Amino acid sequence: MAKSAAAKKSFYSCQQCGHRSAGWLGRCPSCDAWNSFVEETPEASGPAGRPVAAARADVVALTDVDASRESRRIGTSSAELDRVLGGGLVAGSAVLLGGDPGIGKSTLALQLAGGVARGGRPVVYVAGEEAPAQIRLRAERLDMEEPGILVVPATDTPTVARTIKEHQPAVAIVDSVQTVYTPRVESAPGSVAQLRESSAELVTAAREHNTAVVLIGHVTKEGYLAGPRVLEHMVDTVLYFEGDKNHVFRILRAVKNRFGPAGEIGVFEMLAGGLREVDNPSEAFTGAGRKQSPGSVVTACMEGSRPLLVEVQALVAPSNPGSARRTTLGVDHGRVAMLAAVMEKRMGLTMISHDLFVNTVGGVRIDDPGVDLAVVASLASSYVDRALPTDLIVLGEVALTGEVRPVSQARTRVKEAARLGFARVIMPRASAAQAAAPKGMEVLGVESVDEAWEVLRGL
Ligand code: TYD
Ligand code: MG
Repeated sequence: MAKSAAAKKSFYSCQQCGHRSAGWLGRCPSCDAWNSFVEETPEASGPAGRPVAAARADVVALTDVDASRESRRIGTSSAELDRVLGGGLVAGSAVLLGGDPGIGKSTLALQLAGGVARGGRPVVYVAGEEAPAQIRLRAERLDMEEPGILVVPATDTPTVARTIKEHQPAVAIVDSVQTVYTPRVESAPGSVAQLRESSAELVTAAREHNTAVVLIGHVTKEGYLAGPRVLEHMVDTVLYFEGDKNHVFRILRAVKNRFGPAGEIGVFEMLAGGLREVDNPSEAFTGAGRKQSPGSVVTACMEGSRPLLVEVQALVAPSNPGSARRTTLGVDHGRVAMLAAVMEKRMGLTMISHDLFVNTVGGVRIDDPGVDLAVVASLASSYVDRALPTDLIVLGEVALTGEVRPVSQARTRVKEAARLGFARVIMPRASAAQAAAPKGMEVLGVESVDEAWEVLRGL
């Protein structure tokens, strides 16, 4: 009795991170978001509302557990997508596909649906964001005529669950989680309580019929999925679709994967006829036919298990001390500010009175700290307005002390550079020893930014 009385009491939850509070708060103590609290009624949300499980569980010896289902993969007809997933979609698994609005999530999902349907397996597409007619038009644009895709124009979980039960599709796509709702929860679609409960119901329904479910979720401008943590732990795989809308390149990144390596990426191009796999990403991100120009430097980073060559471009322009700007695209803003401070101190360049602009070609986001020395080199090259040789790549993490730290998988990076015709590499001396440079590759080992600066000036 006491329990049901308590369950009636409403609470407030942060729409960014799911933090709960008994009363309304202006600022979330957990994620610092402002004005993010919305009143919600628990109504069967959370474990308290779930039916009590059967008294006795079916205990099985580990060796007798049937794992064949886990190993069954559904090909998506896209080699890049399959690779990011760890070898295709796992039957009965749940995938969260997140990304900014307009980045291409629906396009990717529809192409995935087409690929699966082409293999003769039915796909259910829950149309919450767009009308079926709009999806049809997109399919035409993508030149898809697969009859195996069933569009459900309903977003309540009972209808979706019934459709899955009736049609037993290999894959169900939910576009998007922010539009689905379960009548069991009073909160509006898109609220954390709705997201959590309706997604949980969909995942359970899909798993029951061995249907892989792809949940599409919009990311808010703060970079979180609304209620991200609740959804991220509920699914087996979390994919983020990223890129700069002004560029054609899109990167699909597996940030969590129970069935494959996390950190794996796939590279696509958004063209008039949909997304196309990029066969040679290193070529794409180093700007084909590069000319010698000040501020341009190529680096090799590791994205998942793959090396990726990326061109970093910098522009250093005089400004007033105190109002100097640091603008970045693809590399971390704080990191660039730190590197500029290190350059000021160790290389004697007066960065404080200069505006700095740093970006990566194609806007590809690099998290790998091995990009540091390339950022330093590109800034220095622009500062002195002298181009570096086009056959040079630069690798290394830079510490606050100006020390150049080793990078992981140096050998793989250098090999990729050699494959694309680079003949010189500036890299941490410690990594140079392991890299075993391919024939014809000149390795210039350095231990500090000052030393790297010496080498760069000598080129
Ligand atoms: P969409 O998949 O609707 O994005 P999301 O679901 O993430 O919001 O794609 C949006 C953009 O992609 C839109 O601006 C148009 C562009 N686009 C193409 O360039 N080519 C295409 O073939 C398609 C279908 C979309
Ligand atoms: Mg969409």
